[in-house]
Amino acid sequence: FHVPIAINEPIKSYAPGSAEREDVLRQYHAYFKGNVDVPLYIGNKEIKTGNTKPMSPPHDHKHVVGQYHLAEKKHVEQAIKNGLEAREAWANLAWEQRSAIFSKAAELIAGPYRDKINAATMIAQSKNIHQAEIDAACETIDFLRFNVEYMSRIYDDQPDSAEGLWNRVEYRPLEGFVYAITPFNFTAIAANLPASAAMMGNVVLWKPSDHQIFSAKVIVDVFKEAGLPDGVINVVYGDPVMITDTALASPDFAGIHYTGSTSVFKGLWKKIGDNINTYKTYPRIVGETGGKDFIIAHPTAKPQQVATAISRGAFEFQGQKCSAASRVYLPKSTSKEILELVKKDIESFNKPGSPEDMSNFITAVIHEGSFDKLAKYIDQAKKDKNAEVFAGGEYDKSKGYFIEPTVIVTTDPHYTTMETELFGPVVTVYVYEDKDWSKTLKLVDETSPYALTGAVLSGDRYAIDEATKALQNCAGNFYINDKPTGAVVGQQPFGGARASGTNDKAGSMQNLLRWVSPRLIKETF
Ligand code: ALA
Repeated sequence: FHVPIAINEPIKSYAPGSAEREDVLRQYHAYFKGNVDVPLYIGNKEIKTGNTKPMSPPHDHKHVVGQYHLAEKKHVEQAIKNGLEAREAWANLAWEQRSAIFSKAAELIAGPYRDKINAATMIAQSKNIHQAEIDAACETIDFLRFNVEYMSRIYDDQPDSAEGLWNRVEYRPLEGFVYAITPFNFTAIAANLPASAAMMGNVVLWKPSDHQIFSAKVIVDVFKEAGLPDGVINVVYGDPVMITDTALASPDFAGIHYTGSTSVFKGLWKKIGDNINTYKTYPRIVGETGGKDFIIAHPTAKPQQVATAISRGAFEFQGQKCSAASRVYLPKSTSKEILELVKKDIESFNKPGSPEDMSNFITAVIHEGSFDKLAKYIDQAKKDKNAEVFAGGEYDKSKGYFIEPTVIVTTDPHYTTMETELFGPVVTVYVYEDKDWSKTLKLVDETSPYALTGAVLSGDRYAIDEATKALQNCAGNFYINDKPTGAVVGQQPFGGARASGTNDKAGSMQNLLRWVSPRLIKETF
């Protein structure tokens, strides 16, 4: 390779009494009481529009930690213009020079910005330090390092040439700009979507989620300090419809890199279709969207292993992972034991609380809308005859949006929470007759409009093989004897099909290839 070989960033432990724990808490408190002002970032200029919205942590929603400035249409147009002005120089910069900027960004996060990006993620997205470290620090670093390595492999990949001629491929960036829309739930995804397109020589208009702005600001600071030239990534906050309509109305719109809901993605696709005659080039459409991720246990699976897969797969990160387990199929013979083990896990957790208390396994869900939706489904399950709230089920939004990890057990495989994406710490379990294993696999497939992640647990290799085949279309990431979450960059490229996205695996060469328009040059001697 032409670049340093990527390695996964080791996860720090933040053990009680350690200096690293004290340091991150100091940063958390400084941010918590400070008054952070987040401007738009356009062409290396910080723009304060004066039209602002407050930022509050989900675990303490009456407390204001700062504000961010909202873009008007003219700012979005300016951001697109600045990007296009920067495009030629950036596209023609040697790829080694571009890669060095992103390699430096990775090292800045590994070093001086680690506490900042972690503390900002603890505040904005209510992640405890372990969650923030895995996401904001390590996964962001890994995306940057591995993509630099993948990028070098792409540029290295050249066709053969017969005698007397020379074939070569130029991996040119797209002709126009890329629009990145990023979600709240992973700081790493927020950094990766604009960075992966920019790395390949594109200029980017970036709109982060309204609920991730504090940590988005740290990413912007890192890119700036790493030496990203003016106008390569321009950042706007505010009304998503106005920003999107402005971006998609531009004839220079050349691609979208999206993570978020299925319905918004379908709407984007439709708008792009409506505008297709105005574009210079067919836009690249890359999206990772919803999921209704499953765990299915065979009667031979070890109950403790299944219980751990459920507790971790469904509740870690407040269940706010697109990969989180949200429907579970258990065999009757072991279901009681497994459910009791999960209940024991839930009872051993602290009640949901602030991420500042590092022993809290569960903190707050992202906002009131999410809280209300989850509470509504829990209440409904308490009333319905074909469902029961087996464990958890308490909630409280007086200070923060706290939902207890909750297990609903239903006798109806089509029960509403078996089919609706909830995006929180609520999992629904259906118990099947042991003899119906094959029938249940079919049921899982037939009730999967999504296809993001799934897990099978079994001690029987024939059953594993059967499940792997029967479920081949309903999970882009399929896990055997594990939970369905926690893909590691460089090891398990991540993404799904059906209503879960275009399956252009985050953290892969195949994703980076979506951001180039190769030119083949044949020269005859
Ligand atoms: N990539 C994240 C996971 O696998 C969402 O859990």
